[in-house]
Amino acid sequence: MQQNFDVIIVGAGISGLYTALNLDPKLRVLLLSKKSLVLSNSASAQGGVAAVLEGSADSTDSHFNDSLIAGGFKNNTEALKILVTQGPRDVRRLMDFGVAFDRNPDGSFDLELEGGHSHPRILHHQDATGREITAKLIAAVELSRNITVWENAMVCGLKQVQNGFSLDILRNEEDHVAAGCYACVLATGGIGRVYEHTTNSAAATGDGILLASGAGAKLRHMSWVQFHPTGFNDGRRECLLIPEAVRGAGAVLLNAERQQFLSHYDPRAELAPRDVVSKAMVEEGRRLGDSRFYLDFTGAEEAYAREHFPTTFARLAESGIAMTEDMIPVCPCQHYLMGGIDVDLNGESSVDNLYAVGECAHTGVHGSNRLAGNSMLEDLVFAHQIADEISRRAENQGRPVLGEFHFCEEELGGPVPKGFRTEVRALMQKSYFVIPDPVRVVDSFERIREMRSVLEKGKYRVDRDYMEAKALVNVAYLILKEVL
Ligand code: SIN
Repeated sequence: MQQNFDVIIVGAGISGLYTALNLDPKLRVLLLSKKSLVLSNSASAQGGVAAVLEGSADSTDSHFNDSLIAGGFKNNTEALKILVTQGPRDVRRLMDFGVAFDRNPDGSFDLELEGGHSHPRILHHQDATGREITAKLIAAVELSRNITVWENAMVCGLKQVQNGFSLDILRNEEDHVAAGCYACVLATGGIGRVYEHTTNSAAATGDGILLASGAGAKLRHMSWVQFHPTGFNDGRRECLLIPEAVRGAGAVLLNAERQQFLSHYDPRAELAPRDVVSKAMVEEGRRLGDSRFYLDFTGAEEAYAREHFPTTFARLAESGIAMTEDMIPVCPCQHYLMGGIDVDLNGESSVDNLYAVGECAHTGVHGSNRLAGNSMLEDLVFAHQIADEISRRAENQGRPVLGEFHFCEEELGGPVPKGFRTEVRALMQKSYFVIPDPVRVVDSFERIREMRSVLEKGKYRVDRDYMEAKALVNVAYLILKEVL
């Protein structure tokens, strides 16, 4: 039996939670979280939210221009205008939900400076802003009677039916259940797990992109992948991010000879946008034949670092690094996808009533390289756009009859072949990392095409492993296909 809702939101990071909270409370909403609610990619976001609040000496025009410069002037300027002008409203709304941004002793906001910004404009909660925002939004969702939350719920299929969509949802790794809705919002986050080194959480496997392409939605700029220059290099796959605000607070980047080098590549040096810094690191590593890099924050007081960057300070200390005494080994790592499911200014994809928001969506606000602090801002602003649009349509059109189409997958077939995910990561890391290698891109694409066909044609049990492997292979295929 299919359970019907007005809206189903797939993904419960900031964009999913905030969409749910801004919908007309008369709408019955199902919010799906792949794991537990507190384990989204957003919850681990250490950086903050860029916004120009009223009364500031900064301006939204300057925020707009900095975003354009970082984005290589490839941004959708209409969407970017919405981002910078509506952003302050949503930041205020977050505060209404109880989000506490750090303040100076005089009560003003403690705004950070990050790469690519011409003014300090990053609102933050220490260096754990994502955790603070998700915690407050989760608390608000729990009080909302129109929102049903299913945790450990993985969507294995999305089909268009008469007047809406039918979803096949795997609950608690065991039961496939069908749920229907008039409007579906994909808020599934990033694709980081397609790389060996990423700042993303294990949940970031590009699931929404697989679902959207399966439903016929248009994708755009899948090869616009962003690399962050300062992942903590301790050999782990999931890199601790050292926020750009640490460079904004005076840390400098050193090469293997412990020399500053960024000014030879760009006059903005430490404060250049992250794509420029990541590329400079790769080139400098090639020049010296040694790819070791260090962040030097020894000019800062320990008390300052502890207070402003407590998460980073503590996590480095766990690995035996004293943040203001030792050289911090860093390396570029995958951080963000600017492309994704192509959406309009209301977040709607090329399929009617199928929306996408956050990192899985391509609104065009970021151009080919996202400015620091604009990702959570995009989550908020476009979640609000989507919620307003769905609520408006529901008000005008009422509730049509929802077609039912049961397609719950049977527990047939064997497990997905071992090693697929590891192989995809190795191929992407070698062929399309920071500065792509055109020869390896061709070879990797051939292998990924083979793997994609194996997963599509074989008879496998439809479970989390299968869906994630399929999503990762699909994302890698789409990225490399675009650059061939
Ligand atoms: C950072 O602060 O370096 C990361 C935050 C972001 O990606 O915007």
